[in-house]
Amino acid sequence: MKILCFKTKKDVEMFAASIVIKAVQANPRIVLGLATGRTMIGVYSEMVSLARKSPTTFREVKTFNLDEYVGLPPHHPASFQHFMHEHLFSHLNFNLAYCSLPRGFSPHPAAEAIRYENEIEQKGGIDLQLLGLGVNAHIGFNEPGSSFDSKTRVVKLTQETKDQNKFAFPNESIPEEAISMGLSTIMKCQKILLIVTGLSKARPLADSLEAVQVAFPASILKNHSDVTVLADEEAVSLIPEAKRQLITRAN
Ligand code: GLP
Repeated sequence: MKILCFKTKKDVEMFAASIVIKAVQANPRIVLGLATGRTMIGVYSEMVSLARKSPTTFREVKTFNLDEYVGLPPHHPASFQHFMHEHLFSHLNFNLAYCSLPRGFSPHPAAEAIRYENEIEQKGGIDLQLLGLGVNAHIGFNEPGSSFDSKTRVVKLTQETKDQNKFAFPNESIPEEAISMGLSTIMKCQKILLIVTGLSKARPLADSLEAVQVAFPASILKNHSDVTVLADEEAVSLIPEAKRQLITRAN
């Protein structure tokens, strides 16, 4: 696992976006794994401006999102489906038939999770996966304690995660459950970018560099052969001296 450290959040977002755009230009039929969350808003906005400057077609790109809340209709303003339309899909020429998220509104969420895992496999797996990091070191919605063998499944959200994300539900309570790709699903992706910005992510990033353990789900990424962490100064600030050789200054 290598860590590229940039001065600012904006530098991280621009670099992450440039990697994705170059990957799409190199392989217009790429399968992308996408994430939601505040970290991704700037990344997607940079992708949109880069793709406009250096014409890029997304018509044949396939996408799989990491997760979705159980019980939300797709047009619910806090659904990840809605987030993806607002921040990415509606701005570029994606073919929406190729853009998949778990169907959180399915009457049978457990069966939907299995269907989604199979769909990823049938499409040949994910070439490039974007990940954010939860304040408890979760990736997707794989909360602490998630099995390293886990596949896409229904998960119960922890109080910490509900507190982190409840701002999106001003008039109602946040769902208790989500459908999330599992840790083994994520580990099968060919290449992974973990995007970590801001002081609130300094502790979970430092924890994730400790021994691989279920208490810190992102620590499993140390066992993957192609993970790059893109971080800003604030996010790397609690990495202990002994691990600082993992960090390469990018600017
Ligand atoms: C949610 C998502 C994660 C994301 C995390 C971080 O919990 N399920 O995939 O990484 O939020 O969110 P933020 O970027 O808003 O800090």
